[in-house]
Amino acid sequence: MRPLNTTSLTLRDNRLWILDQQALPQEKRWLASDSVEQLVGHIHALRVRGAPLIGLSASLLLALLAERGLPHDDVLQALGTLRAARPTAVNLMNNLDRIKLALTQPDWRAAVAEEAWRLVEEDRALCDRIADHGAALVAPGSRLLTHCNTGGLATAGIGTAIGVLLRAHQQGKVAQVWVDETRPLLQGGRLTAWELGELQIPYRLICDSMAASLMAQGQVDAVWVGADRIAANGDVANKIGTYSLAVLAHYHRIPFYVAAPHTTHDPACADGAAIPIEQRAAEEVTGVSGSFGQCRWAPDDAEVYNPAFDVTPAALISGWVLDSSVITPQQVEAGIFRRTLG
Ligand code: MRU
Repeated sequence: MRPLNTTSLTLRDNRLWILDQQALPQEKRWLASDSVEQLVGHIHALRVRGAPLIGLSASLLLALLAERGLPHDDVLQALGTLRAARPTAVNLMNNLDRIKLALTQPDWRAAVAEEAWRLVEEDRALCDRIADHGAALVAPGSRLLTHCNTGGLATAGIGTAIGVLLRAHQQGKVAQVWVDETRPLLQGGRLTAWELGELQIPYRLICDSMAASLMAQGQVDAVWVGADRIAANGDVANKIGTYSLAVLAHYHRIPFYVAAPHTTHDPACADGAAIPIEQRAAEEVTGVSGSFGQCRWAPDDAEVYNPAFDVTPAALISGWVLDSSVITPQQVEAGIFRRTLG
């Protein structure tokens, strides 16, 4: 396959490499993802993460396996295994549905490779369009708050919510970004802080629990987050903690925007209650671990609840900033998300 370079995915010497997002920012370590088992392991461990990137990495691996001569049925089986790697972000399922269609072509090996490439190229373009639409909503001098990581690390392009922040920054409109650390896995503290630093966007890192008082002090002009799945009624699943921000923003009358590509939309999910929410290991809450080390603070027998995502009801969202346009609450009420987009 043709070589490929994104912030966190590389195709080189007919191998797929992923930038280990658990090692960042202390270490920039690239890991081979040559087999389904390896990639599923990386996805489970969030070494590769972010809704669009999970789908792209799975599609590229299937293209590589097809090119290496894996029989059709085995590629199909691999697709099924990858599809189940993480349940909440629908980009994975949407991307793999397209690869599955390519597998029905007479020259399926070439078709799968082409489709995987197309998905990457499309994702880049989708990010740019989201950034253009989103930046138009940012007022000069804005102090914007974001959660989790939605940048180049999580997509093939400039990102979704972070793409908006970048475009608005390039237009000279961003005074500062407040970065939620995003417990329990610290995607904000480790990844977004690192990305914004690289992009030279001024930011300040906060603990998730600090957002409320900042809003009360009038220090947040808008909240920008990504999405893992948008249901037919406009409800949005995103990283745990997003819902609390939406409630806070509503109370403080601060606009709350969701930025996502149409590959994150799932018209088959009637509402947020139908979105499967991934439950994760207790160790993520009883302590922390990463390339910075390991630490446990909770009692050995502590019972834990650890959903990786929550659902923000459509009623709390000011705008769904997609690649096609900015969707308004009125359009959502009229049923725009009940039909296929894109
Ligand atoms: O568990 P993660 O780190 O994969 O969760 C990521 C998020 O919730 C992001 O906000 C979402 O996937 C959008 S990434 C452009």
